[in-house]
Parts: sequence; C-alpha cells; structure tokens
Amino acid sequence: MVYSIVKFGDPVLEREAETVTEFDTPELHQFLEDMFESMYAAKGVGLAATQIGFSRKIAVIDCSNGENPEEKLVLINPQVLKVEGKQDGEEGCLSIPGFREQVKRAKRVTVRAQDAKGVEFERTGEDLLARALQHETDHLYGKLYIAHISALKRDLMKRKIKKKQRAGDWD
Ligand code: NI
Repeated sequence: MVYSIVKFGDPVLEREAETVTEFDTPELHQFLEDMFESMYAAKGVGLAATQIGFSRKIAVIDCSNGENPEEKLVLINPQVLKVEGKQDGEEGCLSIPGFREQVKRAKRVTVRAQDAKGVEFERTGEDLLARALQHETDHLYGKLYIAHISALKRDLMKRKIKKKQRAGDWD
C-alpha cells in the first residue's frame, strides 16, 4: 500500500526513531515493500519510515527511480561510518515539498546497517547515493536537511511553510 507522506511540522520527523530489534518477520517484509511503493509513488530516491509516521530506524533508497532493481537499498539501523570529500548540490525532501536548497554533503560515504534479515553490512556510495545515504540516515535521527542550510534561509523557509499551513495548503 502507498502511505501518505508526513510533512514538516509533524514532531515524528524531528525525533530520533527507535532501533529495530525484530527481523525477517512477514510484517517487516510487507512494510519494506510498502515503503518502496510509497517512495516510487512520491517520485523520491529515498524514504525514511518517520516520513510515513513510523518512528523506526528503517529507510529505503533507489537512485535509479525503479529502473534498476540492483540499486534498491534497505537500511535498517544505519550509522554513518566514514565520510570523505565534499559535494555541493541541490537537495529536497518529500516531507518539505516545493522547496529545494543547496546543501553541502560529503562526496563519499560509508554506512553500516542491517538488512531485512538483520544481517549487518557496509555500503559505500558516491555523489547522489552518498547524498541519499546521509539524508536518510539523518532522518532516522530526527534531523532534516534544513539543519544543513543557513539559519537565515531556514527561517525564511519556515515562514513560507507557516503561510502555506494557514492557507490549508500543507497537510
Ligand atoms: Ni527527506
């Protein structure tokens, strides 16, 4: 099933999610399938469980937009192990629709995570994948990409969002 995406302002997005302790259950496999379906429906390259209202350390990524099954990535309880280099590029978030900002990120990132069966693995990504790995791992710690932009830009964005909320154009 396709879940609707929780938008900025909902406290679930700014809380650290709970660590997953049960693996390889039918519920978890179904949930992961639903997360991919929800991500593709929203045309995103990554989705964190907190963005559909579940405070669990689970994220999915697919930088191929569903074109290449080998790029489907499930991250459970991910942690960033290593960052190298720098990249500057535009970034957005499904939970903050209509906004994009330049965000500095590491160029190359290694995360350690568990898969659906609880097996630990490490994954290194560059460029867009590195950006997605950082963005989605941040989500699971209650951190949004706007934490990485200037306070001035962030305040301006929050003011615009408040205006949209008042106009009933946000939920
Ligand atoms: Ni996001």
